[in-house]
Amino acid sequence: MAELKRIGIVGCGAIGGQLARSIVRFFQDRARLMVLCDLDERKARAIADELAPVPEVLPMESVPVHCDLIIEAANGKVVRNLVPKALDMGRDVIVMSVGGLVEIYEEAFALARRKNANLWIPSGAVAGIDGLEAAMTGGVTSVCLTTRKPPAALEGAPYLAEKGLCPDGLAEETVIFEGSARDAIRGFPQNVNVAATVSFAGLGLDQTRVRVVTGPGISTNSHELEVEGAFGRMTTRTDNVPSPQNPKTSYLAVLSACAMLNEILNPVKVGT
Ligand SMILES: NC(=O)c1ccc[n+]([C@@H]2O[C@H](COP(=O)([O-])OP(=O)(O)OC[C@H]3O[C@@H](n4cnc5c(N)ncnc54)[C@H](O)[C@@H]3O)[C@@H](O)[C@H]2O)c1
Repeated sequence: MAELKRIGIVGCGAIGGQLARSIVRFFQDRARLMVLCDLDERKARAIADELAPVPEVLPMESVPVHCDLIIEAANGKVVRNLVPKALDMGRDVIVMSVGGLVEIYEEAFALARRKNANLWIPSGAVAGIDGLEAAMTGGVTSVCLTTRKPPAALEGAPYLAEKGLCPDGLAEETVIFEGSARDAIRGFPQNVNVAATVSFAGLGLDQTRVRVVTGPGISTNSHELEVEGAFGRMTTRTDNVPSPQNPKTSYLAVLSACAMLNEILNPVKVGT
């Protein structure tokens, strides 16, 4: 029998909590949840106590010591602190806070190659990453991501302050930003994950176009991905519902992390 993959989770919120329960429920024959870690230790302890066998609750530095695969589901700062160290130790990592990779991706990708470790980035809240990856192998000429968010979800974005924009006052649906993924990430740092994921799968941070749309009729997050290349033309649209545990996180992102784990642990893979 193959050895059980030893898994640790850093960040036990909406995504980490559900993954912890899924590992124990669905992957007992292939994986063992060894460690949970959260800044709020009580949160990690409460989830650990629901599970059998009970995983240890440890500080972040200890997670790569005890695990083959580390799931980051906390925030960008944790990505920058944890991911290079874990990869350097030859550990595999799943990163959910993809925006956290923007400043360190060159180092992280090189480390993964050098140490023969896997760095996994789930599709998250957007559909079409599989098609984009396939299209890239034949040549892609343009990638455009249009993200629609309710005005409240954009509150505090540096781009809005810089331009003196107040999305609350808009009379109709409006494109409030259009530019490169790199500039979108700089201007809307709370909304970076999908733009970063699309960039890493496709044409990179400077060639990927992003439009941010908001207005009074928009109550949930949606993402439209348009790709053109040698294969033809592809458009996907994902209308997300929020996760029941965290209204800022799309439920599809939680499910995408579970699907990626299934793919890693399952010898049969469907899709690119
Ligand atoms: N890739 C995507 O498409 C996508 C979609 C949604 C969310 N996300 C990202 O995934 C991450 C997790 O999302 P969530 O909804 O589970 O968030 P959440 O707020 O529900 O949970 C995050 C948890 O991380 C913990 N945490 C914070 N700092 C920590 C630290 N230094 N060490 C250990 N734990 C720490 C918090 O206490 C919290 O329990 C977020 O960064 C979010 O932006 C990605």
